[in-house]
Amino acid sequence: MGKDVIIACDFPNAGQTFAFLDMFAGRKPFVKIGMELFYSEGPGIVREIKRKGYKVFLDLKLHDIPNTVKRTMMVLSGLDVDICNVHASGTKRMMEAALEGLTRPDGTRPLLIAVTQLTSTDQESMEKELLIKEPMDEVVMHYAMNAKEAGLDGVVCSPLEAEKVHLECGKDFLTVTPGIRFANGVMGDQKRVTTPAEAKRIGADYIVVGRQITAAADPVAVYNRCVEEFVD
Ligand code: C5P
Repeated sequence: MGKDVIIACDFPNAGQTFAFLDMFAGRKPFVKIGMELFYSEGPGIVREIKRKGYKVFLDLKLHDIPNTVKRTMMVLSGLDVDICNVHASGTKRMMEAALEGLTRPDGTRPLLIAVTQLTSTDQESMEKELLIKEPMDEVVMHYAMNAKEAGLDGVVCSPLEAEKVHLECGKDFLTVTPGIRFANGVMGDQKRVTTPAEAKRIGADYIVVGRQITAAADPVAVYNRCVEEFVD
C-alpha cells in the first residue's frame, strides 16, 4: 500500500455515507469508518463498503483488557478490512493480544496500527489532565516504539511527528496522520495540525481527512486537492 488520502466518513448513517461516496462517480477513495458510523449501522456497513470495492480503515480505537481486545479483534478480522487500530496507551501486552486476535488461522491479517496521542490533545491537557509531564513528541515516540516492539505495523500520530517516528521506528513503520487542515481551514477540535503538502514533505504515509472534505461545498474538488498536494 502506498501513499494515499483516507477520507474519514464520519456520518450518522448509511444513507448519508453512500450519498457522499456516490459523488465520486465510480472512483473508490480509501474510506475510514469510525465509531459514529459503526455504532449506528453495525458491521453490515463495513461489509457493504468493502463489497463495493473500497479499501477500509476501521477506526474503532480499541482500549480494554488484553483478553477483551483479543476476542474483539478475532471478530473484526472476519470483516476483511485493510487497517484496524487500538490505543497504544493500552500497553504492549494489549497490543500483542490485539495482533494475536486479528491474525487469521491462515496467517493473514489486516494492518494494525496504534493511536499514540490523539491529535486533539495538546501538551497542556496531557500534563494537567493525564499527568504525563514529558514533552509531547517524546510521549508519541515512546508509544510508537512500544507499538513497534509489540509487532504492530505503524501508528496514528500528528503529521508533525511522522518524520521522527520514521527515524526512530524505521521508514517502513506506517504513519497515518489525521489533523489535516488547509492553511485557511477551520481548526475545529484538532490541535496538532498541518496541510496535506506539509504532511507529504514530512513523509507521512497516509493522511486522514474528515471535515475538510465531508463538510465542503464541493467534496470531490477538495479530495482532488488533497491528492494533488499529498500523493501526486
Ligand atoms: O474531521 P477531521 O479531519 O478532524 O477528522 C479526523 C478523523 O481522524 C476523525 O475521524 C477522528 O476520529 C480521527 N482521528 C484523529 N486523531 C487520532 C486518531 C483518529 O483525529 N489520533
